[in-house]
Amino acid sequence: MTGNGHTSWAFADAYGVPDIGTAAGEALLWARDRSREIGVASVSPGCGDALRLLTATADAKAVVEIGTGTGVSGLYLLLGMRPDGVLTTMDTEPERQQFAREAFRAAGFAGNRARLIPGRALDVLPRLTDGGYDLVFCDGDREEYLDYLGEAVRLLRPGGVLCFAGVFSGGDTVDSSAQTTTVLTLRELLRTLRDSDRLVPALLPVGDGLLCATCR
Ligand SMILES: C[S@@+](CC[C@H](N)C(=O)[O-])C[C@H]1O[C@@H](n2cnc3c(N)ncnc32)[C@H](O)[C@@H]1O
Repeated sequence: MTGNGHTSWAFADAYGVPDIGTAAGEALLWARDRSREIGVASVSPGCGDALRLLTATADAKAVVEIGTGTGVSGLYLLLGMRPDGVLTTMDTEPERQQFAREAFRAAGFAGNRARLIPGRALDVLPRLTDGGYDLVFCDGDREEYLDYLGEAVRLLRPGGVLCFAGVFSGGDTVDSSAQTTTVLTLRELLRTLRDSDRLVPALLPVGDGLLCATCR
C-alpha cells in the first residue's frame, strides 16, 4: 500500500469518533484509558463506527457481545441500537465489566439497557434464546471463534448480522509462515463464512479486521 493509502486508512479509522465534550465521547475516552491501563485491546474507532452503523442499519433491539472488556465496543453498539434496545454482554473478568458498567452510565444509558453477564461465552451462550437477536458481536477468545459461529447462527433472526473482531490477527492471518492455533482457527472461520450457503460475508479492513456476515 502507498503512503497515501496508509494515511487514508488511518483517516478512515479515526473518522467517526464522537466529539469530546459529549457524554458519549467522554465515556469512550474514559473506557479506552481503562482498557490501556489494564492491557486489554479494545476495538479501534473505525471498527466501533462499523459496529454502530451495523446496529443502526439492523434497527437492533437485541444484541449479544462476547468480550465486554472495559466497554468500548459496547458503547458503540449501544449508540447504534434503538433507544429501547438491550445489549447482552459477557466476559470472564467481572472487574472489567465493572468499568464497562460505569462507562455506559457516564454515556447516559439507563441501567436496563445493558445486561452484563460474568462467565465463559460457551457456558453463557447456550442459555440465550434461539432467533432472539439482531446482531452478535464476537471479541472473546479467538480459538473459540468457530464455536461462537455456531451459537451466533442459532441466536440470530433471519437477516441478523454476525461480526468477528481481530480477524487479521495483527497481520498473521495472511502470513503463510504463521501457523498458531489462533491463526488456523481464523483462516478456517474465513473459509467457512465464504463457503456457507446461509451466510453473506464481507471482511471489513477496519481496526484489526472485522469479519461480518448476514444470515439468510
Ligand atoms: C479484546 S477484549 C474485548 C474488548 C472489548 N470488546 C472492547 O472493544 O472494549 C477480549 C475480552 O474477552 C474476554 N474473554 C476472553 N475469553 C473469553 C471467554 N471464553 N468468554 C468470555 N469472555 C472472554 C477477556 O476477558 C477480554 O476482556
